[in-house]
Amino acid sequence: MAERTGAELFFVRIRFRSWLYSGVEVIIQPDKETAARLVARILASDLRAKPQLVLGLATGGTMESVYQNLVRMHREEGLDFSHCQTFNLDEYVGLTAADPSSYHHYMHHHLFRAVNVAAGNTHLPEGTAANLDEECRRYEALVRQAGGIDLQLLGIGKAGHIGFNEPLSALRSRTRVKALAPATIQQNAPFFGGEAKVPRRAITMGVGTIIEARRCVLLATGDSKADVIAQAVEGPITSMVSATALQLHPRCTVVVDEAAGAKLKEKEYYRWIFANEPEWEGYR
Ligand code: PGA
Repeated sequence: MAERTGAELFFVRIRFRSWLYSGVEVIIQPDKETAARLVARILASDLRAKPQLVLGLATGGTMESVYQNLVRMHREEGLDFSHCQTFNLDEYVGLTAADPSSYHHYMHHHLFRAVNVAAGNTHLPEGTAANLDEECRRYEALVRQAGGIDLQLLGIGKAGHIGFNEPLSALRSRTRVKALAPATIQQNAPFFGGEAKVPRRAITMGVGTIIEARRCVLLATGDSKADVIAQAVEGPITSMVSATALQLHPRCTVVVDEAAGAKLKEKEYYRWIFANEPEWEGYR
């Protein structure tokens, strides 16, 4: 291999350091479509670089357009999912995989049926397991056996949850059963046809499980997320807003549209970093 010049080594070092130490980076995109496309491109780039990628997946309305983009990339660009493994963040307690409101169903509908991921390589917690605590331990062990999560996709709830880690979730929590907060039940009611029909509990990866992923990518769009994004990124770390734990993560990218980023104080700084950081060269 040709020797690198001093200048090249300098930039390699900056790049390497930025991977190790950058912490949270915020990328502000003009609208929700460009934000979702950017997240899909980050994921696709990591998948192309490592076909055996262990992917942590999320559900919710915001993620639907990320999956639409991935399906398009699979069809048009041959993005290959055949060697990757996937682990979803959560599943409702009591819903079978066939239930149209379950996250098993969501994932099948929005992604799995439309790309070439092997069914045996996709994992979600089983919300109907006879012994839920045992199921939580099994799921944690499965993530560990896979070598840990390489890239974890995240949405954010209006009350600040990642996964279903509702307020006061321990920042070191592992996969467990969690009761849903009233705000979450309200937020998810449209998917169930009314608050009364939303399950009261879910199995969720813990905050500790999530921040062990090698890379986290959080997507939030729309003005209903503006307050919580400002708290999550710029507020103090607190178990009242589990997304604030991402500030402890060495490599977390938060992608927002203008609406969700509206209440961030340091917008101009984030834009400067995105415009100047070599890592984002191909994404601008
Ligand atoms: P949403 O959910 O994308 O439907 O807003 C995100 C979340 O609650 O994590």
